[in-house]
Amino acid sequence: MKTEIILLAAGKGKRMKTSLPKVLLPLGGSPMVFHSLTTLVGVKPDRIHLVVGHGEAQLSQAMAEWKAVNLVRQPEQLGTGHAAALALKQVDKHSLALIMFADTPLVSKQTLRRLIARAQLGRAVWSVAELENPYGYGRILRDEKGCPCRIVEEKDCTPAERSIKEANMGILAASAGVLAKWLEEILAHPPTNTQREYILTDLMEYAYRDSYPIELVRSNDADEFLGANDMIQLAQLERILQKRRVEELAGQGVCFLDPLRVDIWGQVKAGRDVTIGPNVIFKGKVTLGQGVSISSHCVIEDCTIAAGTQVRDFCHLEGSRIGKNCTLGPFSRVRPQCLIEDEAHLGNFVETKKTHMGKGSKASHLTYLGNSKIGQQVNIGAGTITCNYDGVKKHLTVIKDDAFIGSNTALVAPVTIGKGATIGAGSVINKDVSDYSLAVERNKQQEIRRFSPFGRKKTPR
Ligand code: UD1
Ligand code: CA
Repeated sequence: MKTEIILLAAGKGKRMKTSLPKVLLPLGGSPMVFHSLTTLVGVKPDRIHLVVGHGEAQLSQAMAEWKAVNLVRQPEQLGTGHAAALALKQVDKHSLALIMFADTPLVSKQTLRRLIARAQLGRAVWSVAELENPYGYGRILRDEKGCPCRIVEEKDCTPAERSIKEANMGILAASAGVLAKWLEEILAHPPTNTQREYILTDLMEYAYRDSYPIELVRSNDADEFLGANDMIQLAQLERILQKRRVEELAGQGVCFLDPLRVDIWGQVKAGRDVTIGPNVIFKGKVTLGQGVSISSHCVIEDCTIAAGTQVRDFCHLEGSRIGKNCTLGPFSRVRPQCLIEDEAHLGNFVETKKTHMGKGSKASHLTYLGNSKIGQQVNIGAGTITCNYDGVKKHLTVIKDDAFIGSNTALVAPVTIGKGATIGAGSVINKDVSDYSLAVERNKQQEIRRFSPFGRKKTPR
């Protein structure tokens, strides 16, 4: 039997109180809906349908990279039942349909597979959980024999129903044809619930009425069904997700000095003996080689850092490759498209951009290296600036192997400093310097003797 999954994402997310559609709010560094989609792809269904409505333009744009997902429009948000009915029109009646919500992003593919497998036995299957505080969730009502017969939404609960702890976690799987038929009936009458919406949860009553086998599926992981309806719940999901990601890496041997104070907003791959300090944020794709240590307060985005490199406190590294046994920071900033080769050193307040730094080269303090190609064993003195921008274009600075750039040098690009050349401190260099020469661009120091700004009287004899 074919399997088709319907993911509902058309709701306004009123309780979020944001202008961004709820399912585009970030969770673990990517839009919430991408988490469900990634899981769904892992389940390998025949088709995935995403129901969009509120913020449709933004959502469709964000979905550009998910070409295989069929977008179903729900122009008016008349309820979860209405949304599902619209999607079911595009689902093969002989398929098995699994319907779920895009604001429940932590569901695992194992659980979805279990729901699908049970539904394939000809049942209508709901995900449920016993919650200490089921506020906001639909409650499962049972008949006198104890069989589940109806779901009642929080707002429609009597006080007795409200005290029920068994709650609907929102995922439902059954034959598409059967679901479509029941939904047609639901849509045929104006809704009578408090919300005045056509609600998906009413389906259980229809299944019960038709004596269709109903099954409830639970999970050992209480967190996976949690929904993000407001910012507090979204923040709780973020913590759960971060804990999972950190624990996965810790399980592979990564040492976190404080696992609660690291955020992974992307993917981190780490070798052996990696240490990560507190308040570090990883974004995008980051790879850390064996023995890499990241001290505190660093932000590392889309970088590969090779074995043995130490990133000291307060570094910001982005879109670059760092070689082996380098030392960066404290307070280094590596901007995109840098290649920092093995054993290089960038010290405090050194900024690099689109720069290739050769093996063993050093810029220890207060420096800007932009659009530059620096050879091996080069020493860049404090306060060196590559003046790469003329107001219109960016230009290249080339510094060849073993060169020594004195402190407070301005290198006006395009310019080439030859191999083994020396630049005297304080120079403004705007002409190429040949190999092994000394270039100094500086006025001759003058000495005016017995000069005092306070007048002759105070000048010692
Ligand atoms: C829903 C369930 C509730 C369950 C809970 C689990 C209903 C009526 N209630 O409540 O029983 O305990 O989830 O998390 O189903 N949506 C649309 N179109 C609409 C309305 C909603 O696509 O017209 C989408 C929303 O974008 C959202 C999802 O459906 O992703 C669920 O809607 P939401 O309003 O969050 O339902 P809950 O109140 O959480
Ligand atoms: Ca919800």
